[in-house]
Amino acid sequence: MSNVLRLAIVDPHDSSRDSLKSMLLRLELVWLEAECSRYEFFADVVAQTNPDIGIVAIDRDPAKGLDLVSRLAQQSPECAVLVVSSSNDGNLILQALRAGAKEFLTQPIRIDDLLGALGRIGQRRSGQGEKKGRGSQVIAIGGAIGGVGSTSIAVNLGCALAREERNSVVLVDLDLTLGDADVFLDTIPDYTLVDVAQNVTRLDFTLLKRSLTRHSSGLYLLPRPVQLEDVALITAEDMQRVIGLMKATFSHLVLDLSKSYSAVDLVALEAASQILLVTQLDLPCLRNVVRLMMSFGQMEGIADKVKILVNRVGLDTGHITLKKAQETIGRDIFWQLPNDYRTMIEVRNNGVPLFEQAPKAPITQSILGLAAALCGEESQEDETAAGPPKLFNLWSK
Ligand SMILES: Nc1ncnc2c1ncn2[C@@H]1O[C@H](COP(=O)(O)OP(=O)(O)OP(=O)(O)O)[C@@H](O)[C@H]1O
Ligand SMILES: [Mg+2]
Repeated sequence: MSNVLRLAIVDPHDSSRDSLKSMLLRLELVWLEAECSRYEFFADVVAQTNPDIGIVAIDRDPAKGLDLVSRLAQQSPECAVLVVSSSNDGNLILQALRAGAKEFLTQPIRIDDLLGALGRIGQRRSGQGEKKGRGSQVIAIGGAIGGVGSTSIAVNLGCALAREERNSVVLVDLDLTLGDADVFLDTIPDYTLVDVAQNVTRLDFTLLKRSLTRHSSGLYLLPRPVQLEDVALITAEDMQRVIGLMKATFSHLVLDLSKSYSAVDLVALEAASQILLVTQLDLPCLRNVVRLMMSFGQMEGIADKVKILVNRVGLDTGHITLKKAQETIGRDIFWQLPNDYRTMIEVRNNGVPLFEQAPKAPITQSILGLAAALCGEESQEDETAAGPPKLFNLWSK
């Protein structure tokens, strides 16, 4: 049970306790250790069960509830207390925090607020050198020009990552108008990004997974909207929420960006732990890489996450060498994928991933290597991080 976050709740109101409980129970990797209907008993329950987080709903008797919060802070300082109330009175919030609460949530609780609070508690815990939540890895894939190979790479990288049993991987098609990730995976999805974006505040993890299409490789897909007119319904703010929810439920997010670098794409770039910028060795591509890198340099924290991936190496059209490309871009080439038009067109037309269609092909091996290189970096970070391996994939980055 080491990768599970353990919670205990106290709420004398049966109905609000039940609704909070059902929200918590649907959170993947959250374990409800204990529930209690009496404030008087909860400190003992916490002492006996040692949960990571104690949730105290104070509406029934705020004074008693806040007393309990102080007691917990003294007796069980390792248990982070989260206070829940239908009041958002500033004084009450202040009293709760002074009593030792780490977070205060107003009822009715929204799933993204709850996730945010749990995430902040987790980050503070890891900052104290305690157990560290295992971050989900967000890989954004952008291209320097149309048709450079971003979707081929996103889909096959996603499938390669999903092959590992310990990974849970989702691919989100952010090419909102013309995206074709569903074609690569030969799926006809029931729901799309617009359904999830519009319901994100109401979705729980079970519903979220039901809204996604699961490919036989294990990869989940969230495709672009079907109707062009629905594209405008997806805002940058929705996207932020969708990514937040996905990060709470998947170990890896692969985001296939559009080539318009829209506000929605920028949210993805911000959320990414790594950004693969796909280019080919020709002048229009390399010129765009330079332009994009200049713009990324103006945005806080983006340029450092970018890794240059050269696709279709060996395609003899641009007459630009890797060395020259590296000099032009002014940074190292992180990965190269060989040119293999026949295999790549087959995987797209047949709607099967590379490792099924051509397991031994150099391009397949190179994609598998790319997946390992991206994750290898993550495990190195884990090894150097203080404390034992990370605890919970809810915690971001
Ligand atoms: N390494 C490769 N070798 C040969 N052909 C490739 C390679 N990678 C991708 N392709 C081919 O390039 C074409 C474009 O690929 P893909 O659709 O993945 O690009 P994209 O950047 O997502 O395009 P768009 O800008 O339309 O989203 C496809 O026909 C694909 O089969
Ligand atoms: Mg594409």
